[in-house]
Amino acid sequence: MASDKLTRLLRPDISTFQGYTPVEPFERLSEKLGIPLDQIVKLDANENPYGCSPRAQNAVAEFNRYHIYPDSYGVELCEALEKFLSVSRTQIALGNGSDELLDFLCRLLVSPGDKVVTAVPTFPMYRFNTASFGGQIVEVPRDENFEVQLEPLLAAIDDRTKMVMLATPNNPTGNPIAPEHVRRLLETGAVVVVDEAYAEFAGFSYASWAKDYENIVVLRTFSKWAALAGLRVGYGVFHPNLIQHFWRIKPPYNVNVAAQAAAVASLADVDYLMGNVRRIVAERERLSGELKKLPYLQVYPSAANYIYIKFLRGDALAVKKALEKRGVFVRYYDEAYLRGGFRITVGKPEHSEALLAGMAEITKRMGIG
Ligand SMILES: Cc1ncc(COP(=O)(O)O)c(C=O)c1O
Repeated sequence: MASDKLTRLLRPDISTFQGYTPVEPFERLSEKLGIPLDQIVKLDANENPYGCSPRAQNAVAEFNRYHIYPDSYGVELCEALEKFLSVSRTQIALGNGSDELLDFLCRLLVSPGDKVVTAVPTFPMYRFNTASFGGQIVEVPRDENFEVQLEPLLAAIDDRTKMVMLATPNNPTGNPIAPEHVRRLLETGAVVVVDEAYAEFAGFSYASWAKDYENIVVLRTFSKWAALAGLRVGYGVFHPNLIQHFWRIKPPYNVNVAAQAAAVASLADVDYLMGNVRRIVAERERLSGELKKLPYLQVYPSAANYIYIKFLRGDALAVKKALEKRGVFVRYYDEAYLRGGFRITVGKPEHSEALLAGMAEITKRMGIG
């Protein structure tokens, strides 16, 4: 416990700040369960089971200027991104993961009392980042199929609203947001953050919209499709009118040299990486089909590298815990709208088999299946 003297120094709102619960590190899980690392089926953090490009691996191994600070603007990476996205490199800013860009956007736009609107359930970092700047997150419920409800969302936007944050495909539900909805939200004048962490799996992006709308920011990452989650590199695509302000608050060396080198090498190996993306998409469809055969489940369609399922009978948390004992990890959310189900990251076919075998045995034992 902190002393009273220390507590008095804290921002008053920190005492009620909820923080973020990350997934447990791989190594600790293995130790805790007594299951060797290579036998753990880690389907809880939307990581890419195929690993990064060999070119990215080599780029990090061969790099020899670790004693020099990184290029603050990441010019080489932005040039490679310009080709990848067909968007001018002058519209691209790098982050230590796209998470960091969410934080920077709040730093740029949110003063205490300002609002950020989102559609829940969704990625919990929108709440975390808004609250960490003293902002108010306004959470508009999605409908029963997790679709964004446009009219209530528009109605929630008022003079104090600085941003609307929406993931497409949405995490954890997997569904994309319709272009017409994004257009209507942009017309409100609020900054609309379109978080495309899984765009490569969906095959659709709003990045080109940043040429036409000054109030859109499209966030992308190398964590998922390029399997660089551990190196932390993401980026935002901005309109020139907004990025000029963004530069003022960006810290100079936020993306390290290893991350930049690996990301450049990944963009030189797009065919290889997209081959793995296609494998994951094919496996998503196969796994989804298998899950749909289970009468006690509702399986939501997904355009990403994960599938959200809801239990029509039985206790999702109990199944999740029983899977864990077998070394199979999925993501359960102890929050409104999501309690009756969990999210499964799509892994390799053998990971799906371990999950399905576990679910069959557990639900039979519990009398659900
Ligand atoms: C919707 C969404 N946005 C952003 C992120 C963060 O990605 P990054 O690893 O680039 O910080 C994630 C990670 O899971 C995510 O699901």
